[in-house]
Amino acid sequence: MNKSRRSFIVQSSAAILGASVLSPAANSKGSELASKPSPQNAFGDGTLRIALVGCGGRGTGAASQALSTAALGMGDVKLVAMADAFSDRLDSSLATLKEQHPSQVEVPEDRRFTGFDAYERAMAEDVDLVVLATPPGFRPMHFEHAVANNKHVFMEKPVAVDATGVRKVIAAARKADESGLKVGVGLQRHHQRSYIETIERIKDGAIGELTLLRCYWNSSGVWVRPRQADMTEMTYQMRNWYYFNWLCGDHITEQHIHNLDVCNWLAGDYPVEAQGQGGRLVRNGIDHGEIFDHHMVEYTYASGLKMMSQCRHIPGTASSVSEHAHGTRGTADVGAGRIESAGGWKWRFRDEDPNPYQVEHDDLFNAVRTGAAYNEAVNGAKSSMTSIMGRMATYSGQIIRWEEAIESSQDLSPKEYTWNATPPVVPDKHGRYPIAMPGVTKAF
Ligand SMILES: NC(=O)c1ccc[n+]([C@@H]2O[C@H](COP(=O)([O-])OP(=O)(O)OC[C@H]3O[C@@H](n4cnc5c(N)ncnc54)[C@H](O)[C@@H]3O)[C@@H](O)[C@H]2O)c1
Repeated sequence: MNKSRRSFIVQSSAAILGASVLSPAANSKGSELASKPSPQNAFGDGTLRIALVGCGGRGTGAASQALSTAALGMGDVKLVAMADAFSDRLDSSLATLKEQHPSQVEVPEDRRFTGFDAYERAMAEDVDLVVLATPPGFRPMHFEHAVANNKHVFMEKPVAVDATGVRKVIAAARKADESGLKVGVGLQRHHQRSYIETIERIKDGAIGELTLLRCYWNSSGVWVRPRQADMTEMTYQMRNWYYFNWLCGDHITEQHIHNLDVCNWLAGDYPVEAQGQGGRLVRNGIDHGEIFDHHMVEYTYASGLKMMSQCRHIPGTASSVSEHAHGTRGTADVGAGRIESAGGWKWRFRDEDPNPYQVEHDDLFNAVRTGAAYNEAVNGAKSSMTSIMGRMATYSGQIIRWEEAIESSQDLSPKEYTWNATPPVVPDKHGRYPIAMPGVTKAF
């Protein structure tokens, strides 16, 4: 990598910016790290070259937001390589991105990669930053590879589906710091002004001492991608990935992580213990794999503070995606940006609330260009672990302690990544997969 070009872009970007415009959340997370210049910053004209790995709905959105950071005026951004397990997903993502950003998408056929090793081939190209947006089961492997190959990273949440993956991400995050690499994680509430300001007020004592946290991801559920006649078992699970834990981690990990992460942010800590219950009441279709449709978990922090968490995927039931804090002097609906004190005093966030999906990319790209410390991976890994610990509790019916759970050898990944390989779970002769049974299933 050309060092003089690199220092050119770091210096000129810092001059343009004057001061970092990082969100307080990003600054505080990065503050324990020494600010180091980025190891690579593309070319002397200030262009950053990016690759997208996982070209589905969110990957396409994240790549578009990464390209839109060019509007910051610190230099152009180009998408130069794309990788997906399936060519149809890559092609439709490419078409969308070309339409949205015609002058910034330069992905000729020889930089479009498909299959399980597509990520390696995309990262072998001359790229500065990779967007990792596959199903989360692949994240630890892809993140490790990106850091080993000196790439800055934006990766979607969750960052792992088991404790082995969490430990890999934490280890790679440390290497990223040593190499001066910048890492953003798609827990975008940390970049959402309404959340930042409400949580700052709570931390400043607006509702007194915290006595209870509650959070919810209760909804009707997500898509199903049914089995087609010509699919191998591996192909089927890769297409219908939401319903298989080695790919998805169950919906407590895949979606509810957002709300658990906000509670961790409020508590300023990660839980030491979890106990709960869950199961499948209505999610019993042939394409519903192995995941539960509801979980309810009581988490305990070291301070004794409790967090009550619910997530449900059941059509026709009440919806709520929210986080709430109770204190000695009032309550807060954090997502709604609303605080009410016991004495009748009320505050409501009413300012502009820019799209956090864009802000999280602006913050990351600022850090890449200025060399400011920036690494959200450890928080991403520990909030992923919070959700995994909840799943361990609901599947087993046991009390789960953080220190044992995070050291567990549970590794849900397959032995081999090929289309004919046998995935970690297989159906019985009726096409049904084993479902966790509290009291019988081991926690890890
Ligand atoms: N932050 C948020 O609010 C938010 C919102 C939606 C999704 N997400 C996250 O984004 C990730 C992707 O979700 P999605 O909704 O885009 O799913 P999706 O199914 O639309 O896209 C996933 C893509 O990854 C591809 N893929 C699978 N395995 C791969 C591999 N080994 N290598 C390369 N490509 C592979 C799939 O073929 C697919 O195109 C998930 O982790 C999800 O939790 C985050």
